[in-house]
Amino acid sequence: MGLKVLVTGSSGLIGSEAVAFYDGAGHDVTGVDNNMRAEFFGTAGDTTWNLERLKRSTTRFTHRDLDIRDREALFALFREQAFELVVHCAAQPSHDKARDIPLTDFEVNAVGTVNLLEATRLHCPDAVFLHMSTNKVYGDAPNELPLVETETRFDYARPQDFHGIAEDFRIDRTLHSLFGASKTAADIMAQEYGRYFGLRVGVFRGGCLTGPAHSGVELHGFLNFLVKAAVAGDTYTVFGYKGKQVRDNIHSSDVIQAFEAFRAAPRPGEVYNLGGGRENSVSVLEAIARIEGLTGRRVKWRYDEHNRVGDHICYVSDLRKLRSHYPGWNVTRSLDDILVELVESESRRLAAL
Ligand SMILES: NC(=O)c1ccc[n+]([C@@H]2O[C@H](COP(=O)([O-])OP(=O)(O)OC[C@H]3O[C@@H](n4cnc5c(N)ncnc54)[C@H](O)[C@@H]3O)[C@@H](O)[C@H]2O)c1
Repeated sequence: MGLKVLVTGSSGLIGSEAVAFYDGAGHDVTGVDNNMRAEFFGTAGDTTWNLERLKRSTTRFTHRDLDIRDREALFALFREQAFELVVHCAAQPSHDKARDIPLTDFEVNAVGTVNLLEATRLHCPDAVFLHMSTNKVYGDAPNELPLVETETRFDYARPQDFHGIAEDFRIDRTLHSLFGASKTAADIMAQEYGRYFGLRVGVFRGGCLTGPAHSGVELHGFLNFLVKAAVAGDTYTVFGYKGKQVRDNIHSSDVIQAFEAFRAAPRPGEVYNLGGGRENSVSVLEAIARIEGLTGRRVKWRYDEHNRVGDHICYVSDLRKLRSHYPGWNVTRSLDDILVELVESESRRLAAL
């Protein structure tokens, strides 16, 4: 018998990957998404195309146009269906956007998460609850680490930092951005429902998550948006740090495999950093060069010397805790695999317009 699965943010990058995976594995998937990404980012953020794609390609998926801030509607859904797995991916996901909408950002990210945790506790306390958090819970504290500057990137200077940022890195007394702060509130509440109430909650602090299902926009979805601009011949803006800021990139399917490892053997209240790790790390300058190598065309870009407030200079997720708890899990898509797929899917999308 299949599981009853709830995916929030089901038309987004990670949510849609979760829907496709669990539907394909024969489970009953309910997806909740109100297309709020279009409200946050305008038409480029509209996720309708992705919802339509899911409807065409799945067999047991039902979509609900529901707002996770609407507690009554959410509780009614939980009364109707006894979920066994909750994959929580709905969010306001942008640091910069949060500055313009502090209350909405907090209501979606923090209160929306507590609504889901409480609905789970009241109606299906045995469910596994996967919470998608972010590396912005560490704020800009990673920028305090000693760095070296090479021709194309910043990197950690000390050997003990080689593997990147681990889960015991401090999360307070640091500049988070309002987004980072609302996500930290959600992260702590999710841990609390695991530790205090014993719910089977796993918290995953994402690095740069990517894949062709992203409705990439300038304010969110670094690699996806860069490839979009490169393929369309648009001009990409690099914000500060000489373009040498480093991100570690993970394909959405490897994110779902980490979820799946936790679902099969949950550890209530645990926190894991989840990114592409050192091997999938790249600076903006390096990413541009790699895309140029793949497309054979120059990427047009301009430099704005103002870095984004609180932006990480070098962020690599230390994956050793996740790998030690779940030895069957690993990053399977290399940076080049990811870039090739993004370039191909973006070229197809443009050709179809
Ligand atoms: N993409 C990244 O690089 C990245 C990095 C770190 C963490 N994360 C986290 O991963 C999670 C998923 O991110 P993503 O990249 O898939 O984002 P996404 O924007 O592609 O997907 C989120 C989805 O949630 C929906 N949504 C927003 N508010 C909602 C609401 N009130 N009710 C119902 N649905 C709502 C949006 O319409 C969107 O489809 C988020 O929690 C995000 O903070 C993402």
